[in-house]
Amino acid sequence: MSIKKRLIASNVAMIVIPIVLFLLLELIIATLIFSGINGTPVKKDSQWFMTLRFMGLLFILIVTNGILTYMVSKTILKPIRILTKAAEEISNGNLNHEIVSVNKDELGKLSETFESMRSQLKKAKEESELYENNRKEFVASISHDLKTPLTSIKGYINGVLDGIADNPEMKQMYLQTAYQKADDMDHLINELFLYSKLDLKQLPFQFELIQLENYFADYLEELKYDPSFKEVEFSFQSEPRDHYFVMADRLSLGRIIDNILQNSLKYSDKTEKKISISLQSKTDAVIVKFEDNGKGIAKESLPRIFESFYRIDSSRNKATGGSGLGLAIVKKIVEGHGGEIWAESEEGKGTSIYITLKKRKVGEGNAERINH
Ligand SMILES: Nc1ncnc2c1ncn2[C@@H]1O[C@H](COP(=O)(O)OP(=O)(O)OP(=O)(O)O)[C@@H](O)[C@H]1O
Ligand SMILES: [Mg+2]
Repeated sequence: MSIKKRLIASNVAMIVIPIVLFLLLELIIATLIFSGINGTPVKKDSQWFMTLRFMGLLFILIVTNGILTYMVSKTILKPIRILTKAAEEISNGNLNHEIVSVNKDELGKLSETFESMRSQLKKAKEESELYENNRKEFVASISHDLKTPLTSIKGYINGVLDGIADNPEMKQMYLQTAYQKADDMDHLINELFLYSKLDLKQLPFQFELIQLENYFADYLEELKYDPSFKEVEFSFQSEPRDHYFVMADRLSLGRIIDNILQNSLKYSDKTEKKISISLQSKTDAVIVKFEDNGKGIAKESLPRIFESFYRIDSSRNKATGGSGLGLAIVKKIVEGHGGEIWAESEEGKGTSIYITLKKRKVGEGNAERINH
């Protein structure tokens, strides 16, 4: 019941209850005083009756008023006390103090709104803590990944300067290694630059209409001449009846595919490497599935592979060495295209990476200008 209704009911009760009780009381007193009297009551009995009546009325008014006021104010004051306590807890930084409201009145609504504000504040605080932790990890990883090659470069150049590399072959080898390390650093810095531009949404996408079926056919044709993929068996599937027009940035789409395919190649433990790409047309989006028969990803690592700098094999000096930015960049690009990305994997069997790209409907805009 709303507070307004409760107050009206209590006011009505404050009039009705005393009247009823007063009439009852009057009846009882009259019966007690006058029942044994025959004829006209004496003045003393009437005075006695009037006094008792007056005192009874006073008593009824005080008790009814007191009980009703206490009951109504309790239902209002209790939630206010709970809310005050909760507000104090929040102002002291405790966002775990939950408010459970059973009232269905205005104060119950206020408590619910307060509770939703508290849980949103808690969520925002947790998100900001997570963001802050990620930022710290990010800075630590960058520092580590830049410092390691820099230390080796200094070591190799010192080796040449100090004469440790004392013959032309050794000098050549030292300088070549230093150059390779500098090149790795250059690659990492470029990746970082790209990642932060995507993160700040400062990378402008040049969206154009792309027919994915034709795009992949051309892409795979070009891949045949790439020596690193010469041992990989590719397959491509699509439904001929469906259409696969999407709006995408050609360069970024290439980056997505390069990253995913490079991973399939790098993290393969099979001699017969297989990569299959398939397209599935949904109402609003095209799902592209990249499936490999590599070593797969453990269940606990799977949700983390799209995080920046996350590598399952955290040692960065292995043959498969990378920065762990590849899939984080892919995710940012896909999201920048309004799409989604996720992965499925089974250890020992292989990994599937799925991306969705928003579909451009036939007849909408310049669908006849097909680029591939
Ligand atoms: N197809 C795959 N099969 C098995 N593991 C994979 C696959 N793709 C990604 N991973 C795992 O996910 C991690 C993150 O991949 P990501 O591409 O982001 O980084 P990276 O390949 O280590 O480095 P980078 O791509 O920056 O050179 C990898 O280190 C790898 O352990
Ligand atoms: Mg990678």
